[in-house]
Amino acid sequence: MGLRILVIGAGGREHAVAHALTKSPRVEEVYCAPGNPGMIRDGIHVVDLAQSNHAALVSFAQNNRIDWVFVGPEVPLMEGIVDVFEEAGIKAFGPNKAAAEIEGSKDFAKRLMARHNIPTADYRTFVTEEAAKDYVLRHGAPIVIKADGLAAGKGVTVAMDIETAMKALDEIFIGNRFGKAGEKVVIEDFLQGQEFSLMSFVRGTEVWPMPIAQDHKRAYDNDEGPNTGGMGAYSPVPQISDATVTEALETIVKPTAQAMVDEGTPFTGVLYAGLIATEEGPKVIEFNARLGDPETQVVLPRLTSDFAVAITTLLEGGTPEFTWNTEGATLGVVLAAQGYPEHVVTGAPIPQIPDSNDIHTYYAGVAGSDQEEKDEKDKAGTGLVASSGRVLLVEATQPTLQKAQDAVYSLLEDIDTTGMFYRHDIGAKALR
Ligand code: AMP
Ligand code: GLY
Repeated sequence: MGLRILVIGAGGREHAVAHALTKSPRVEEVYCAPGNPGMIRDGIHVVDLAQSNHAALVSFAQNNRIDWVFVGPEVPLMEGIVDVFEEAGIKAFGPNKAAAEIEGSKDFAKRLMARHNIPTADYRTFVTEEAAKDYVLRHGAPIVIKADGLAAGKGVTVAMDIETAMKALDEIFIGNRFGKAGEKVVIEDFLQGQEFSLMSFVRGTEVWPMPIAQDHKRAYDNDEGPNTGGMGAYSPVPQISDATVTEALETIVKPTAQAMVDEGTPFTGVLYAGLIATEEGPKVIEFNARLGDPETQVVLPRLTSDFAVAITTLLEGGTPEFTWNTEGATLGVVLAAQGYPEHVVTGAPIPQIPDSNDIHTYYAGVAGSDQEEKDEKDKAGTGLVASSGRVLLVEATQPTLQKAQDAVYSLLEDIDTTGMFYRHDIGAKALR
C-alpha cells in the first residue's frame, strides 16, 4: 500500500515539500494542513486544520491512516507538535520541543556554540535596556541587535551607526515591538562576507547535507529596505567554494549535531545553518530547526532521489539515500504583496502562471477570492487573491543560473503583478 503523508504548514516551503513527495511512486496521498488553495493544482489535498491545533491534527492522522508527518514551520515545532504526535504513536519528521530551542532562542543557540567552539560572532545577552545601551556605546558600530525569540525574520537590526542601534533597542525595550520574543536581546559583532544557507537532514549525530542556496533577505533591489522572511533564492552558489562548504560541515553542522546529542537534546529533522563566509572561514548567523523558505523551493527541485522513501527510511532508523542534480541550477523569485513586510495590502488578484517541466510556481499567501469580490478582483480567473506578505514564488530549473534567472524574469514580465512586487536582482551576486 502506498504512503499517506501529512505536511503541516501553509507556505511555499510546504508546497515544495508536498510537491516533492507527490512525485514519489511510493506515495498514495499527500495532505497539507492548513495548506493553501494554490497547492490543490498539484494534487495536494488541503486540510482545513490550524497548525497549532495539535489534537485535531493527531485525530486527522489517525482517522486517515497517515504513515508519517512532515512539520514545515518553526512555530508548531516550538510548541512541541512532534512530541504530541510521538506520544500518539505517529512518526513525525522534525525536532522535538527541546531540540527546536536551537531556533526558538538565539541565546540558547549562542550558548551552545560558545560551549562547543562553533564559529559565530562574539555576543552578549541583555535583559535591560540600560545595560544593552551601555554595551553598544562601549562597543561602537557596526553592531547587530537581535530579539531573542521568534520574530519571523524581522527581529534583527544590522546597525551601521550607534543611532540605529539605540533606536532598535528602544523599539524592543520601550516599544515592546517583539513582545515576549524581545524580553532578552542578543547583541553581536557585525560579520562581513557572503551569506549562504546550508541545510542538512539530521538524525542525532548523522548528517546528510543538501546543496547550498543563497537567500535575499532585504525587501528591495540591491539589498535595500527592511529584512523580510526572504525574497528569492538560488542554488548552487558558485561564489562559495566547495572547500568552504566542507569546512562549514566539519566545523559547524556536524559539531552542532554532536553538541545537541551531548547536551541531552538530540536533534532529528532539518538543521538550517545560516552562514556567512568571512575571511576567517564560515561563521553562524543563525540556526533554524526546519527547512528555509524560500531556500526549499530551489533546493528540493534539485533532489533526484525519492524524497518520500528517504524520509521514511530516516524515520525508521535506516540509511536514507539523497542524491542531487549537480549539473543544473535553480532560481526562485518571490512575488510579495504590496507593502510587505511592514504594511501588507492583501487582495491582489493572482494571475494565471504557466507551468512547464522546468518552471514551477509554489504558492504561499493566497486565499480563495470570496463571491462578492469575485467579479471585481478575480479578472484573472484563478479564483485566488493575495492573502499575506509573501504570495508565491516562481522557480526555474535550467542548465545554468543565468538561464534560470532569465526564465523566471521573462515569465514575471509577462504576467500582471498589480498589487504585488518582486526583486529584480535575485541571483545577481552569483552572476556578476
Ligand atoms: P537572522 O534573522 O539572524 O538571519 O538575521 C537577518 C539578517 O541580518 C541576516 O541574514 C544577515 O544579513 C544579517 N545579520 C545577522 N547577524 C549578522 C551579523 N552578526 N553580522 C552581519 N550581518 C548579520
Ligand atoms: N529564508 C530564511 C528562513 O527560512 O529563515
